[in-house]
Amino acid sequence: MISVEQAVLILKKGEPVAIPTETVYGLAAPIFQPDAIKKIFFLKGRPEDNPLIAHVSNLTMVEEIAEEIPPTFHDLIQKFWPGPLTIVLPKKDNVPIVATGGLSSIGVRMPSHRIAQTIIESVGVPLVAPSANLSGKPSPTSPDHVWEDFGENFPVVDGGVSKVGIESTVVSLVHEIPTLLRPGSITKEEIEEVLKLPLAFPKKGERPSAPGMKYRHYAPRAEIRIVEKVPPHAKFVLQRKDQTLHSQTFYANLRKADRLGADIIWVLLDPVSSKDEALMNRLLRASGTL
Ligand code: TXA
Ligand code: MG
Repeated sequence: MISVEQAVLILKKGEPVAIPTETVYGLAAPIFQPDAIKKIFFLKGRPEDNPLIAHVSNLTMVEEIAEEIPPTFHDLIQKFWPGPLTIVLPKKDNVPIVATGGLSSIGVRMPSHRIAQTIIESVGVPLVAPSANLSGKPSPTSPDHVWEDFGENFPVVDGGVSKVGIESTVVSLVHEIPTLLRPGSITKEEIEEVLKLPLAFPKKGERPSAPGMKYRHYAPRAEIRIVEKVPPHAKFVLQRKDQTLHSQTFYANLRKADRLGADIIWVLLDPVSSKDEALMNRLLRASGTL
């Protein structure tokens, strides 16, 4: 565990630090330090073409890294920032290409977590941060998840349990029609209500425009079986009745199943959960069926 002040010093020196956000813990590095960013990819075992999200604490930081800021951006942030919405914009040339996985766009997000805001503001530049887990593993929602993946000496700032529990919604404003790249707790409908138009989706079969979405993700070691009836011999079960099939606790429960040595995680799908687009997206991806 390290203090906010220590985190700021380590980040300025160009070393990654895990920081809390309201969605999941992030593995942060200053955006203008390509060597620090390379360390993030190396630590996570992350494919080089999977772009990172830049976390900002004020709008000047967005202007520093984004080339064009359309009016729709302001409409969205007025309603959803600070919070779990990432907006993809054309990037400026000063943003190192390692940060964006070779893309000419950059995802930006202003987290609502006070500790995250303080750290970004103190470092003074946007911090790029993917989720602070080994690539492919469930995202971390508390410091012990980060230590599980990176060892107990890894520098983490404790900000408690992440309130949202799954990663931000990602929407791209790079093209004429805004596109939903990753569902999250801010729903498609809420975004459409602000934009007053239907969102587009990346077409199947095309190169995914959120490159991260093409990799197996969020996966525990145990096999996930989604069922309508749980067999009597089932040992580890996620179901809404027990408040366990829920975005906030979803990743923590996948990690718990692995710690307990479960071979199968049984998921009892109910009508409420199956309508939760973000939860279903993570569940299907974790089970390898999406
Ligand atoms: O809630 C979150 O977004 C967390 C916290 C730490 O902020 N971060 C997070 O980062 O989930 P990561 O790296 O695990 O996921 C980033 C996602 C990936 O699917 C990536 O492909 C997409 O956002 N993405 C980032 N920049 C993009 C860009 N320029 N164009 C398209 N997709 C982008
Ligand atoms: Mg991730």
